[in-house]
Amino acid sequence: MELVDLLILFIALLLLRLWWRYWSVTGGEPKNLPPGPPGWPIVGNLIQVILQRRHFIFVVRDLHKQYGPIFTMQMGQRRLIIVTSSELIHEALVQRGPEFASRPADSPIRLIFSVGKCAINSAEYGPLWRALRRNFVTELINPTRIKQCSWIRNWALEHHMKRLQKEASEVGYVEVMSNCRLTICSVLICLCFGAKISEDRIKYIEGVLKEVMLITTPKLPDFLPVLTPLFRRQVRAAKELRKKQLECLVPLIENRKVFLQSGGKVNDEMVSPTGAAYIDSLFELEAPGRGRLGEEELVTLVSEIINAGTDTSATTVEWALLHLVTNQEIQEKLYKEIVDTVGKNSVVTESDVERMSYLGAVVKETFRRHPPSHFVLSHAAVTETELGGYTIPADASVEFYTAWVTEDPDIWKDPTEFRPERFLGGGDGVDVDVTGTKGVRMVPFGAGRRICPAWTLGTLHVNMLLARMVQAFKWLPVPNSPPDPTDTFAFTVVMKNPLKAAILPRSN
Ligand code: HEM
Repeated sequence: MELVDLLILFIALLLLRLWWRYWSVTGGEPKNLPPGPPGWPIVGNLIQVILQRRHFIFVVRDLHKQYGPIFTMQMGQRRLIIVTSSELIHEALVQRGPEFASRPADSPIRLIFSVGKCAINSAEYGPLWRALRRNFVTELINPTRIKQCSWIRNWALEHHMKRLQKEASEVGYVEVMSNCRLTICSVLICLCFGAKISEDRIKYIEGVLKEVMLITTPKLPDFLPVLTPLFRRQVRAAKELRKKQLECLVPLIENRKVFLQSGGKVNDEMVSPTGAAYIDSLFELEAPGRGRLGEEELVTLVSEIINAGTDTSATTVEWALLHLVTNQEIQEKLYKEIVDTVGKNSVVTESDVERMSYLGAVVKETFRRHPPSHFVLSHAAVTETELGGYTIPADASVEFYTAWVTEDPDIWKDPTEFRPERFLGGGDGVDVDVTGTKGVRMVPFGAGRRICPAWTLGTLHVNMLLARMVQAFKWLPVPNSPPDPTDTFAFTVVMKNPLKAAILPRSN
């Protein structure tokens, strides 16, 4: 430890001491917080959580049994209010949506990557967020644009199927997650930049953006910002990674600019016409408080789309295939529906999957049983308010533990069973509303103002991948390497041991 570190540590301890004295004298404000596990001086529950050596979601799973629908965790200087009950989640996110639609303060490392919260997911509830989200929805997610871009998904799926076949013939099995990530990532890159790029380059970008996601997950200084100066090395590493992120994405932005300025004549690399790529709309956007966006902001805004859309959908396909591999009856039922709808050899289209009710039920059951995120992103109250009879301070992070409602035996019959039939005729999931508007029983995309704006696109990616993969191949366990359903956290809740499956071509 350098001398300057010792000095910083001394000052930090002094500040913490003053803060603790203030806390002991005032008892902390406000007084009527939700109950929660008793903490230690200064660090609150932080050390208790660290000592458990488990991811936070697993700690909360246990705590909610003890503390119920709403509780407080004091994580260093950050106060988390955890909300677990269906009724309170619905009240906060839907009925009183605008009151809970903001995001909490970001750590210094997250601020580097969001260029000071200039991203849809991290912007505070206000004019900047509204403008960015409206632009995204009208430019990328409107039904006409989704249809216009269906050729991108067809192109990526064609490569996907060939890659699976090649991998299976070379090593005897396929790895589901890495293949799905690559395919979805290539679709999203093409939607963002209007460009087809080489698989090696896509893999590189995918790797860099995964590093970005991991470096921005909460770390010690997020909870004890007073210690941030001690983590200079981590901040330096974050700045280097940011440089790498800019180096791999800025050339794509520049290429698109040149393409638009030179009249926008579509060619083998630049495949989307003027206006059809997300970046085109960002070039034109006047962002409240920021004006025209610079390279830094553009990189942040496209990265968030690629990041938000890749792991979430790929994780879902992996979990769905786990159940199809281990339950051949469900797989055969799905295969039969695909064949009945499009035949054995015709290419499944996007309008075909809309007509497949069993596929819809398999996908919904996967979202219910394995929601990619157990919490929605952190929310914050716009101003101090109350929920469930307790005070919710404006500076607290409000964490909605939405996965619990899908495990609740009072809400779902045999919740741990994977049973797509529950979403068909007379089942307990038949009337479920995945947007949570009518009530919160499963909300894999969140609910209310901050609901995932691309939930229909994400579902389309999952539907198309599954339908094509099951039409072409019979999916089987790899001999001597049975699928392991243990989960773990890696931005989304993924299989700890990625699914490997043997595939047999169905017919030609
Ligand atoms: C299976 C696929 C997906 C799942 C399960 C999913 C889930 C979620 C969840 C849980 C949230 C947080 C909601 C909240 O904080 O209350 C979210 C936000 C978001 N998602 Fe998705 N998502 C998926 C696909 C996508 C795709 C494909 C894109 C982009 C193309 C996308 C873009 C976003 C954005 C921009 C936000 C931030 C919204 C805001 O803060 O206003 N997501 N998503």
